[in-house]
Formats: sequence, structure tokens, C-alpha cells
Amino acid sequence: MSPLLPSRPVSDVVRVLFGREDIRRRIEELGRTITGDYEGRAPVLISVLKGGSVFLADLFRQIRLPVSIDYMSISRYGGATESMGRVRIVKDLDEDIGGRHVLIVEDIVDTGLTLSYLISVLESRHPASVEVCALLDKSARRITPLPLRYVGFDCPDVFVVGYGLDFQERFRNVPDILAVQDVAALAAEPDLLVPYLARGATPPPPTDPPDDAGA
Ligand code: IMP
Repeated sequence: MSPLLPSRPVSDVVRVLFGREDIRRRIEELGRTITGDYEGRAPVLISVLKGGSVFLADLFRQIRLPVSIDYMSISRYGGATESMGRVRIVKDLDEDIGGRHVLIVEDIVDTGLTLSYLISVLESRHPASVEVCALLDKSARRITPLPLRYVGFDCPDVFVVGYGLDFQERFRNVPDILAVQDVAALAAEPDLLVPYLARGATPPPPTDPPDDAGA
């Protein structure tokens, strides 16, 4: 099957959950709130590679304070759609966070296992405070209860891609957040979203005409 001729309409497999305009507006609001809450302080924003980097890039430009940024990379054991909670630090922070106000910037909190591990690692380094800003909160799947100080959107229990979030390392550059309604179909035909990207990543219409319509 040619990648330009998908066997199924893209709208059967994914739908736009949060569009780019909604994301932009929500991040502006979060930036304003964080700016107010941290007034007079210089927090360090920590993002977990790779998914959180897109959110961090947009969020920290909406914070009107002298923030700094740092990155960590964590390796999870288990498949792409299955977070097993066993993690190991692949890349550590560049800076010492002792005495600093730390804001962890996460793309999505699912079971919470990754984040609870990260929080315990960061707290052992004696920062002044540790808070979390998550773009998406998939609370239905939470195993470890976590205080999320800032949340962009509540996320239904569905696999999502785009805006930094991947499926098998693909689709991080989709500007919208898409709900994958049929993960098996996307796994079987990973090029399915290529025409969506080629169209300038405009959201797919709610329904595509049937294959035989009018052609
Ligand atoms: P947790 O440890 O289960 O909370 O997993 C969090 C991490 O799993 C996120 O930072 C993502 O990298 C990944 N993840 C969880 N749910 C999704 C999803 O729906 N799409 C893409 N990645 C996800």
C-alpha cells in the first residue's frame, strides 16, 4: 500500500482532541498564572525529553520571569503505549537544583509512575520547592496519586499523539493533539498520518466521504 493512499480514512483512526488554537490559549493562561505565583522568584523549569520539550518551549516564553530551563532524559522499560513504571536516568540535569524553585513541565501524566520517580529524585537534591505543570492529565489511569499544581487539560483515557507526544517515535510534529481511536490500525499502517502532515497538518474533517463516493 502506498503511503499516499491510506486504506482507511484518517478520521476513522484519529480525531482532534485539542486543536492548536486551544493549546495556544491554554498555555497563555498557564503562563500568566505561573508568572503571578512565582513573582519575585526565578524558577527552573525541568522538562523530560522528548515529549515535554515542545510544551516547555511554548510555556516558558509565556512566563514573564527570569526562568531557566534544564532537561532530563529517562528511559522506561516497556512498550510505547504501556508505561511500566521502571525507569532509569539516561541524561541528568546540567545544573544543581539545590535551593531552587523547580517546576517540572510534563507532556502527559498517565499512571504517574514516571513522575513520582522523578519527583523523588529531584527532592533528594534539596530544592526550595518542587511543583508540576502537566499539559495533559489522564487521571483515569493514575496509579500513584500526585499533586499536579498546574494542568492544561483533563485527558480522557485514550492514546494521544501530536504536540510532542509520539507513537513509536512518530507524529511529535503534529501541531494538534490527536486521540488515536484505533491504535492497531495506526500500528499496522504508520504512514496513515503522512497525508495529514502533508496538508499542512490541518485537522482532519469529522468524517471523510466513503471511498466510493462520487469518484
Ligand atoms: P506514566 O509514568 O504512566 O505517567 O507515563 C508518562 C509518560 O508515558 C509520558 O511522559 C509519555 O511519554 C508516555 N505516555 C503516556 N500516555 C501517553 C499517550 O497517550 N501518548 C503518548 N505518550 C504517552
